[in-house]
Amino acid sequence: MSPEFYKIIHVIGLITLFTGIGGFLTYGAANAPRAKMVGILHGVGLLLLLVSGFGMTGKMGIGFPAWIIVKLVIFLILGALLAVAKRGRVSPRGAIVTALALGFVAAYLGLTWKYGFSIPKVAPAAETAPAQG
Ligand code: HEM
Repeated sequence: MSPEFYKIIHVIGLITLFTGIGGFLTYGAANAPRAKMVGILHGVGLLLLLVSGFGMTGKMGIGFPAWIIVKLVIFLILGALLAVAKRGRVSPRGAIVTALALGFVAAYLGLTWKYGFSIPKVAPAAETAPAQG
């Protein structure tokens, strides 16, 4: 499978995970509706992210630089967040704000590592060149 294929799975995984995290708002309510579905979305999203993340890392042959380790730590925290939210140790709203902040960092790292973790002012040449053939 190509790195691009893994990338699509990665993005589907993060959409799925964050749909589940949005469902954290149901916790704390008297009979948390759809709690099972929230758990499934959260778990499936995490699985897709991890498998595709390692898939890309392997295909790109970049080993395990610090930014990947940071993403793995973020992955673990996002994974633990469901249990923490369920037990009421953090408010549902607090869990979502934490998840959004961590998700931002993970996405920023994934999108900017090629450019020294900054946002390029002009589009990188390789991506603006007209397609050949
Ligand atoms: C924790 C939640 C995570 C989020 C929200 C996230 C998000 C993202 C995003 C938005 C991208 C950019 C995709 C693009 O270029 O269009 C990306 C790239 C990437 N992610 Fe993640 N990621 C997460 C976890 C992980 C994990 C756990 C790994 C490794 C085990 C990983 C490895 C990678 C790699 C290698 C890329 C680079 C793709 C490239 O430059 O072609 N990510 N990630």
